Parts: sequence; C-alpha cells; structure tokens
Amino acid sequence: MTRKEMAAQISRRRIFGIISHPDAGKTTLTEKLLLHGGAIREAGTVKARKNAKFATSDWMEIEKQRGISVTSSVMQFEYEGKVISIMDTPGHNDFGEDTYRILTSVDSAVMVIDAAKGIEAQTKKLFAVCKMRGIPIFTFMNKLDREAKDPLELLSELEEVLGMPAAAATWPIGCGLNFQGVYNILRNEVYLYRERRTLKLGDLGVFGDELEEILTINNLKALREQIELLEGAGYPVDQELIAAGELTPVFFGSALADFGVTAFLEHFLEMSPAPGPRKLEGGGEVDPLDPNFSGFVFKIQANMNPAHRDRLAFFRICSGTYTHGMTVTLSRTGKPIKLAQSTQLMANERENVQTAYTGDIIGIYDTGNFQIGDTLCTTKEPIFFEPLPTFPPELFARVAPKDTMKAKQFQKGVAQLAQEGAIQVYHNEYNEVVIGAVGQLQFEVFQYRLENEYNAPLRMESLDYSVARWIKDPDMEAVKRAVDSRTMLVFDRFDRPLILFPNVFTLNFFTERFPAIKLVEATEI
Ligand code: G4P
Repeated sequence: MTRKEMAAQISRRRIFGIISHPDAGKTTLTEKLLLHGGAIREAGTVKARKNAKFATSDWMEIEKQRGISVTSSVMQFEYEGKVISIMDTPGHNDFGEDTYRILTSVDSAVMVIDAAKGIEAQTKKLFAVCKMRGIPIFTFMNKLDREAKDPLELLSELEEVLGMPAAAATWPIGCGLNFQGVYNILRNEVYLYRERRTLKLGDLGVFGDELEEILTINNLKALREQIELLEGAGYPVDQELIAAGELTPVFFGSALADFGVTAFLEHFLEMSPAPGPRKLEGGGEVDPLDPNFSGFVFKIQANMNPAHRDRLAFFRICSGTYTHGMTVTLSRTGKPIKLAQSTQLMANERENVQTAYTGDIIGIYDTGNFQIGDTLCTTKEPIFFEPLPTFPPELFARVAPKDTMKAKQFQKGVAQLAQEGAIQVYHNEYNEVVIGAVGQLQFEVFQYRLENEYNAPLRMESLDYSVARWIKDPDMEAVKRAVDSRTMLVFDRFDRPLILFPNVFTLNFFTERFPAIKLVEATEI
C-alpha cells in the first residue's frame, strides 16, 4: 500500500467512545448511529444485546442479573465514506477501570446527557478522564421529546460542572409536548419535528419571517431570545478549541425519535479528529503513517467461552497495516507472535479480519500472552508506548480462599485477573491478599469469576480504606514505624510499597506528621 493510500485510509477513520450516565440514552443513540450506517437493519438489535442473550459467557450472568453492561465492545460502521468505530463503555455507577482505559484508546468522546436531568455524577468522572487526555468531547443533549430543562441552563450547567466552555451547534425549539424541532445554527436551517422536513432560513436566520407561521408564538419568542443571548454571550463553535479538547460542541435531539441524530453525526464527522500520532515512553511518538505495524493492548476480555478459557485482547493499531497471519514482536518479552486469529467486533457477531489500518481496533485471540498496556510491533527494535494511566482504587478488600485446599487455584485466578487488569492486587506483610478497585462491581465480578472459572470460592472482607498512596524512595524502617492501626502497608505486583488510608483526613494527618515519607498518587510513581 502506498503512503497516499494509507493516508486516505487513516483520514477516513473516526474512533470514539460513547459515555453517559445510565439511562441517558447511550444504547438508543448507538443504535440509531448504527442504523444510519447500515450496520444493523433493525432497531432493537443493540438494545437486545444490552438486555438479554449473554449466552456467550457465563460470568456475564452478573450483567444479566443486574441488567447492566460490565464488558464493552467496539462497533464499526461506514457512513458517507467514513469508517466509524464506537467503543461502548459500561454505563453503570459501579463501572470499573475498564471504562477509564477504553477512553485511553479513542480519539474523541461523545457524551449523552438526559436533558431532563442534566449532568450526573457518573458522566463527570468519565469526563475528567477525557479532559486529562485532552481529547475532544461532543455533547448530545437527549430526550427533547420529553419535558427538559431550559437549554441555556443546560449549557451553563455543562460549563460549570465540567469546567469547560460549551458551544451550541444546534438548538431545540420547545420540548416535550411543545417540541417543534431543532435549529441547526451552523447550517442555518430548521428541522421540523412533526413534519420531518428541513427548512432553510434566510440571512436573518431565526429573526426572518420563515418561521412565523410554523412555530407557536411561545416557541418562536423563546427561540429568538435564546439565540440572541447565545450570539451575544455564548461561545461560537470553534474547530481549533474543539480539537484541543478545550470546548465541547453541543447538539440537541431525541435518540428515540431519531431526531437531530443525522445533524449530530454529520457535524461530528467533520469536526472529530482522525487517528493521530501516539506518544512513546521516554519521548518521541509514532507517526500514524509509519509503515511499520504497531499498537497496544488496552483491554483484555476473558473467557468469552468458559469452556476454552480463551481471552480476547483489544488492540488499537497506531501505525502500519494489519494483515491476517502476520508475525509481530511483543515488546515486553521481545518474543515473536503470530497473529492468526483476530476479530473485528460488531455487537455479538465476530468476524475474522483480513486487513486493518491505523486507528482500527481489533480483538486478538489470546492464550495468556498479553497484558494491559502491551505493545506489539514490527519495528527492528521493539518500541514501547507511553504506559496507560493507572487509576487510583477507592475500594479495598482482604481476600482468601474459603477452602485452603484450593489455594493453588486461588493464586492462579488472582494472578490472571490482575494481569487482565480486572482488579488491582496487593499483598501485605503477612502475605495476605488485598484487592483494590474503582467500583464495587469489580469486586463482584472478581468473586464470581474466581468461583466459577477457577473453582476457588472466596472469603472477602471489606476494608475501611478509600485512599491509596505510593511511597517514593521508601526508607522501609521509617515507613514501618509510621504505619499504625488506622493505616495499612501493602505492596503492589511490582513490590512497590503503598499505604492505605481510611480517608483524606487521615492522609493529611499522616503527611504532616511524617514529612520525610514522600507519598504520591498512582499516576506519579
Ligand atoms: P443507556 O444505554 O444510556 O442506559 O440508555 P438507553 O438507551 O437504554 O435508554 C434508557 C431509556 O430511555 C429507554 O427507555 C429508552 O427508550 C429511553 N430513551 C432513550 N432516548 C430517548 C429519547 O430521546 N426520548 C425518550 N422519550 N426516551 C428515550 P426504557 O423504558 O428503559 O426502555 P424501553 O422499554 O423503552 O426500551
């Protein structure tokens, strides 16, 4: 493939994650996007995946029981020449590190918000990760066919809570029973809800007379007032700021009614970035046009089929072309690996990919070779991408096998699940196993899987800690003297010491009392 052909392939790719608080409409919007791309033929397909049939994996039983999506997958479709990959993220309150990590593999994020509820806690957390990475965020205010908050209020809430300016790209005309449509500010046209037609406006925009007979007096009055306010005091949609992740364009609509979705999709495709360079550890970056193949594992999903213990490593290509059966080097070990079985994931159907390009996400069949963050490449010298950020665990528990005869299965299960990144594993001075997680659900999945996949039922005792700090250049004698009954000293899987604190208050107390012990967050170690 020539460089020019490669550039064309890359520039038509868009990889994004879709985030929301549960029930805001993420599944419905995803489904509508897939329908537009012809990737699915029937509405209800994605929904069905969310609600039922998790026959592929027993441990997904938990998902079924709780009606949530623990795992996530990638869906690819084409729209007007663009190849779009959507990374679905679990939308439950108890989401785990997986969700965070997915956001390290995408080039932009779409945030779905229920316009009646505004910004909710979960969205805030996920948003913080996007902001940390500086990736563009696109906001879709959903459910305008129902009663909704005042759109100006929604904008200022977005700005206030997220600490980022928001620029209206489209604007709602009424809501609920009075919902009459959406005004596309960028194209100066109105989509009429009931009539399902597009009305081009003249130079005067909403102040011209085209809308006079069409909208109710109240809606027209409100629309004109709001647009006037936006023109005076709002932020304009600025491509550069969006690309830098410093401004979020906002779209309004109804995913359920498939209204305002096309405009959103089309503007999103114009404004969102194609795959760019990826940073290397210790400086430098990989050019997406580099002919050498490279990429990294950002997620490992285990035991899709419990009978076979297979795992699927989710891999993001950063440069070069993937071809079926190619041999690559696993940088961490320096060993060659033949990629014979790779799948591109679309909902539950998996098909074998023959070729894939920079930006694409493929699932590589794994028999236990890979770890989260692993680099695969075909360069002469192995390269290493910047490590994926570690997210600070906030929940801790002490675990042990219920049956001491099962100690071996227990050890194996713990080691494998830690490697998968399903949970953080530590040990204390007495060699007890302590696990850490971002969300409660990670514990449940951990327990369930140890029992069902490794046949090692657990005793699990929650610990009253919520803050973890690693110790820089530790003087272990001093550390041991400082740790008391309120704190716990543990070691991570690289044997680095860290201290667990019940809360920030005890942490502050500790730092004041022992200034010589340098405590840092996971990301700084
Ligand atoms: P999630 O993935 O973010 O959790 O949300 P999901 O799409 O499953 O949507 C949650 C509920 O909100 C669903 O209703 C869905 O139909 C509804 N919904 C989504 N978008 C819109 C919209 O634009 N307008 C309105 N009025 N409703 C919307 P449900 O009752 O939980 O499911 P169902 O029985 O309707 O399928």
